[in-house]
Amino acid sequence: MHIPVLLKEMQEALAIRDGALYIDATFGGGGYTRAILEQANCQVIAVDRDPEAIQRAEQLKAQYPDRLFVFQGVFSDLPSIVEKVPVEKVDGVVFDFGVSSYQIDTPERGFSFRFEGPLDMRMSGEGESAADIVNTYSEEDLANVIYTYGEEYRSRRIARAIVELRKVKPIQTTLELANLIKSRVGGRPDAQHPATLTFQALRIKVNNELIEIERGLKFAEDFLSTDGRLVAVTFHSLEDRVVKSFLRQKSVRKQKQSRLLPGEKVPSPPSFHDLYPKGIAPSETEISANPRSRSARLRAAVRLPAHKDGESHA
Ligand SMILES: C[S@@+](CC[C@H](N)C(=O)[O-])C[C@H]1O[C@@H](n2cnc3c(N)ncnc32)[C@H](O)[C@@H]1O
Repeated sequence: MHIPVLLKEMQEALAIRDGALYIDATFGGGGYTRAILEQANCQVIAVDRDPEAIQRAEQLKAQYPDRLFVFQGVFSDLPSIVEKVPVEKVDGVVFDFGVSSYQIDTPERGFSFRFEGPLDMRMSGEGESAADIVNTYSEEDLANVIYTYGEEYRSRRIARAIVELRKVKPIQTTLELANLIKSRVGGRPDAQHPATLTFQALRIKVNNELIEIERGLKFAEDFLSTDGRLVAVTFHSLEDRVVKSFLRQKSVRKQKQSRLLPGEKVPSPPSFHDLYPKGIAPSETEISANPRSRSARLRAAVRLPAHKDGESHA
């Protein structure tokens, strides 16, 4: 069971209405898609990279055969997915990044250091797994992954411990890795499990998550109709930074052209109006009902009219 996070806030930000077409690019357990379909007589294109999420979406489709379209794919596939529908523009795109409770609570998927399972972490079940990375990357590359995607200050010590253990035997399971970090590198001052940030880093690397977010946001810029809404829910600072800097770059600028320095390029006209420059966090009530929501943040923006020179579709 996955409890949708910031659900009411998402519905409000998406400005759901009859006759509109929305994309839920992270179907997961379908909480967002279901709420959108229930709120208005609209249509939803539901996408997820995880075949198990797609099975759940197909079940929901039985209830909404004419209003729900289901596709397996990643954010980079969104342009080709809308071509298949086919549509040229959509009225809203919603992303709820990260993993679903279905994924994190299934030991065989290998996302969690709380359960024993294969060190996998592939949302789509394809490509390089976390075990492949841990057992084949050089010590320096491992440290870089753990530092860049986990912001783990002990990345070098963790990478060294991994390389020393794998000389004896490959690291195959979640608990082998979690226990290694705990025993060799020890606890953290912030009382997080010592393996938390390493697991986050491996998951982001395995699923190419940050690049995918950038591509998803660019898709929204290119395919939203005027007044269409972009809604993005993030779960940690790295994800949030990508969304925040995209919106800052693409939103109405305070800077005036007259203040440009000589030789400085005139910035391209804005494509979005940022609805909540500070983002929206869950209420205390939501956090106590669903502690997993505590680090979530919702950002949303309205698509401004595209400019005649087509700059926003570059
Ligand atoms: C937090 S869950 C979404 C939960 C959903 N909003 C709900 O209410 O049930 C995130 C989902 O996004 C999917 N996902 C993550 N990155 C993706 C990507 N780049 N492309 C497609 N799906 C992705 C995951 O497989 C997961 O099912």
